[in-house]
Amino acid sequence: MSLETELLYTRKYKDGACNLLKPEAFPLYTATAFTANTLSEIKQAYAQGYTYIRTNNPDRDVLASQITALEAPGLEDKDTLVFSSGMASISTTIGSLLKAGDHVICNSRIYGETFDVFGKMFSRFGIESTLVNMDDIENVKAAIKPNTKMIYAEVCANPTMNLIDIPEFAKLAHENGALLMMDNTFTTAISIKPLTLGADIVISSMTKFMNGHSDAILGCMTASKEIIETVRPMRMLFGTPADPFPCWMMIRGLETLHLRVRKQMYNAAKLAEFFENDPHVIKVNHPSLDSFPQRAIAKKLWSDDEAISGMMSIILNTEDEAKIDKFMAKLQYVHYATTLGGLRTTLNHPCTSSHSHMPDADRRKMGITPGMFRVSVGIEDTQDLINDFKQAFAELD
Ligand SMILES: Cc1ncc(COP(=O)(O)O)c(C=O)c1O
Repeated sequence: MSLETELLYTRKYKDGACNLLKPEAFPLYTATAFTANTLSEIKQAYAQGYTYIRTNNPDRDVLASQITALEAPGLEDKDTLVFSSGMASISTTIGSLLKAGDHVICNSRIYGETFDVFGKMFSRFGIESTLVNMDDIENVKAAIKPNTKMIYAEVCANPTMNLIDIPEFAKLAHENGALLMMDNTFTTAISIKPLTLGADIVISSMTKFMNGHSDAILGCMTASKEIIETVRPMRMLFGTPADPFPCWMMIRGLETLHLRVRKQMYNAAKLAEFFENDPHVIKVNHPSLDSFPQRAIAKKLWSDDEAISGMMSIILNTEDEAKIDKFMAKLQYVHYATTLGGLRTTLNHPCTSSHSHMPDADRRKMGITPGMFRVSVGIEDTQDLINDFKQAFAELD
C-alpha cells in the first residue's frame, strides 16, 4: 500500500473504541477514564483495553500507528510512543534509556533546548555528554569512550542544515555498542526515514511540519518494540503522554502530510535556487544546492533535490539592523514567527532568539551571523513567495 493510502486507513486502536458506530473520521476521546461493570471486565481492560488517560487513549494509539507506518515501513519490530511535546519525547526517551555513568556524544549543531537536556538536566544525574562537530565522523570516533551508549544528531541541524551520514554513523554506533538517536523534525518521514538507514531511535517535534497547522504541540518517538516497552512505563511516571485533543488534531493533520510537506520541500528548493542567484543573499544553506558544503552526503541520503526539507537558512549581504528591519517590514506574506513547519512561510533570526545567549564570536564560528535568517517554507504559490522576497530585498540596497 502506498504511503498516501496508508495514512488515510491506518487506524490501530484496541477493540471496543468505536466498533459499533463505525465513524468515517476518528472520534475524539477526551474521557480521563473508561468504565467497567465487573472484575473480569476490569481485568480485560488492564490486559488489552483502556483504563486511565495517562496509560492509554484511543486517539494516541491511532496517531502512534500512523507514525509507525510513516517512519518504519516494512520494519516489523518497530512501534511508536506519542508525547506531550517534542522536548517530552527527547527527555523521556533519554531519561528512560540512559543511567548514571553512561556517556552520550551529541552534535554541537543542535536545537538549544535538546543540548540543555544533556548539559543542564541529565548531567545532574551522572549522564555525561560530549559535544562534537559531526561534520567530520573522525571527531565522533575520537570522542567514543567505553561507556558511550548513544550518538545523538538532527537529520538537518538547526539553523545551518548540517547533515550526518546516517548509515556510517549507525555503523560506528553499533560497532561500539551504542544507539544512534536522530531528530527528524526539520525533514519528516516524507523526506527521510532514519530507521530504514540504520538509526535506532527517531524522534520528532510534531508541533512543526507533522501537524503543519501551527495549532498543537506534540512529540513522538519510534524505535524497536524493546526500546518502546522500556520507555512506555517511564512515560507514565514522567507524566509526558500526549493529551487526546492535540492527538486528534494531529491525526487529521497527518492525513495530508505528504501533500503539505512535498509542496513545502519543493518550494524550499525553488526558493533556495532564487536566493543563490540574488545578490542580496551571500550564503544559502540548503542541501539541494551544489554550493552546500555537505552536498556529497546530501546526494547519498536523497535522490530528489526537491524532496529534502522545507527548512533553510540564508545570510543577507548586510548586518545593518535598520536595513534588516525595513526588509522585514516590507515583506507582504512572509513573516517572523518563533516556530517552523507551518503552512505559511516564516522567518526566524537565530542571533536574537535560539542563539542569543552565545557570544558573537562563537556564533560566527558556527556560521551564524546577525545577517542570518532561518526560513521555514510554507505551501504558498512558489512565484508569489519569490516575488515577496524580491520586492522586500530592494530595502537592502
Ligand atoms: C529540531 C527540534 N527538535 C525538538 C524541538 C522541541 O519541540 P517542541 O517545541 O514540540 O517541544 C524543536 C523545537 O523547536 C526543534 O526545532
